[in-house]
Amino acid sequence: MARAKIGVLASGRGTNFQAIADACMRKEIPAEIVLLVCNVPGALVLDRARKAGIAQVVIDHTTFGKDREGWEREAVKALKERGVDLVVFAGFMRLVTPYFVAQFPDRILNIHPSLLPAFPGAHGIRDALDHGAKVSGLTIHFVDASLDAGPIILQKAVPVGDDDTEETFAARILEWENRLYPVAVRLVAEGRVTLEGGRARIDWRGIERPPIP
Ligand code: GAR
Repeated sequence: MARAKIGVLASGRGTNFQAIADACMRKEIPAEIVLLVCNVPGALVLDRARKAGIAQVVIDHTTFGKDREGWEREAVKALKERGVDLVVFAGFMRLVTPYFVAQFPDRILNIHPSLLPAFPGAHGIRDALDHGAKVSGLTIHFVDASLDAGPIILQKAVPVGDDDTEETFAARILEWENRLYPVAVRLVAEGRVTLEGGRARIDWRGIERPPIP
């Protein structure tokens, strides 16, 4: 199978971008990140891409006002010019429209810091703590046009400790995110994930299964 060409969309710090880039570099994923698209000028993820020698484009969403599709058309153009065939959202804090999703059918992944469908949105960790949840975690899923939804690939449950703050809990979730997102990308890049209705079935034969959920 040909190596997948990954386009990452990110808005911030970029630890998940880094984890996936490192795994591609180590050849643990049969893929290459060919482009980082970032919607926030000055975001830390841009430094990471520069250091890793990965091409980047900044498309500032604020210059598009409410025209989401306008932003997406620019992004899609950049991704297609580079031959991207797998799109990975890594801390990409924007909702996408059906237009974007239709450009890469069943080829867009997202990571979210809660056990979806609980606590979607921009504050998955804070919302879980505010709700008094005893367990939350993270979800890696295919993207459809709704907020933080689409067939689930991997989930990891992370218990909430009595003394957890948003910071300490976020750090524990992030460790698992950085460990599991490269695994999920590998599974998709190797064609091990099949969609049956709303369910993603994974073929784990011959590879080590991480301690999930
Ligand atoms: C991650 O915790 C990711 O789950 C979250 O943003 C963080 C990005 O971290 N995404 C969402 O909340 C999406 N709704 P990173 O920039 O270090 O990868």
